[in-house]
Amino acid sequence: MKKILITGVAGLLGSRMAEWILQNHAEVKIIGIDDLSGGYIEHVPNGVEFHQLDITSDEIADLFKGVSIVYHFAAYAAEGLSPFIRKFNYRSNIVGTASVVNACIEGQVGRLVFTSSMAVYGVGNPPFKESDLPEPIDPYGVAKYACEMDIKIAGSQHGLDWCILRPHNVYGRNQNIWDRYRNVLGIWMFQNMNELPFTIFGDGRQQRAFSCIDDCLLPLWKAGVDAWASKKIINIGSWRYYSIQEAAQILKEVIGKATIRYEAARHEVKDALPAHELSISILDYQDNTTLRMGLKMMWDWAQKQPRRSQKSWDKYELEKGIYQFWKNP
Ligand SMILES: NC(=O)c1ccc[n+]([C@@H]2O[C@H](COP(=O)([O-])OP(=O)(O)OC[C@H]3O[C@@H](n4cnc5c(N)ncnc54)[C@H](O)[C@@H]3O)[C@@H](O)[C@H]2O)c1
Repeated sequence: MKKILITGVAGLLGSRMAEWILQNHAEVKIIGIDDLSGGYIEHVPNGVEFHQLDITSDEIADLFKGVSIVYHFAAYAAEGLSPFIRKFNYRSNIVGTASVVNACIEGQVGRLVFTSSMAVYGVGNPPFKESDLPEPIDPYGVAKYACEMDIKIAGSQHGLDWCILRPHNVYGRNQNIWDRYRNVLGIWMFQNMNELPFTIFGDGRQQRAFSCIDDCLLPLWKAGVDAWASKKIINIGSWRYYSIQEAAQILKEVIGKATIRYEAARHEVKDALPAHELSISILDYQDNTTLRMGLKMMWDWAQKQPRRSQKSWDKYELEKGIYQFWKNP
């Protein structure tokens, strides 16, 4: 039986990918790893062989033996927070990925699919092309770029096959909406459910390519199995671009009522927009879900979720320069 291993299987991409594979490829056995630091066991579908492990631990290695495809999604992906938790960010992203790469090489894995990020481009020159020279502006982007380079080296030196994806603002059912540092749409949903205004940083004119997870699943599969995807770096992202203000307005209409509060601008890229040619030609990416449709699905799901409290860091590694809105919950 073909084996696929997913790290971060309790998270958005991991849980939804596992579900999609179980529905579309019943012949596949799925091994899932997650330490549940940012994902929820309730989101891991029945049928996954689940292991609660930290990917930086050597204990993961045995699970990789005889695996055809590894989807490596596990990471703490809080880009804006990353300058204030540098060490944690590099441990989670770089040390974690190094551990996965070692296990892939030793286990003779067929292909490693790694989710890098649009964060590698930095300010760039949107729409970002995969051939653009990365120039990240924060430690999260630096970490993702370092992982990309490390994986390429493992490819040339140890014969590891790989495909690197650069997702752009993926959202949808099973997203963590209880983390105040990441995933703006989920943060707004949490705020609204707790009778708080949506927060927008700066003037709200910054643009993003919000991408519904449902449109990313077939492309993720192809990144693992298609010969054309071998040793390619490919953006995954919607070709409809929205400003943060527009996104807030759409969510407000989906929910029915909401207020908005503007906060001081923070250190972030103005327009993070992907070029699409490769995602379409190699991965068959199709932008089927408008932001309104995707938010409707996510909001319907969010309302049925347990009332969890919001994750907050007790102590940041660095307090200097931290934004007021993160100092005082
Ligand atoms: N969602 C997006 O918009 C987006 C955009 C660009 C890149 N990515 C990347 O895609 C990947 C998946 O993102 P997501 O949105 O599903 O995030 P997520 O937080 O929903 O899922 C990540 C999962 O990894 C787990 N995890 C974290 N650290 C771990 C560790 N040390 N050991 C084991 N498990 C660990 C968490 O518990 C969580 O379940 C991440 O690598 C992220 O950087 C996501």
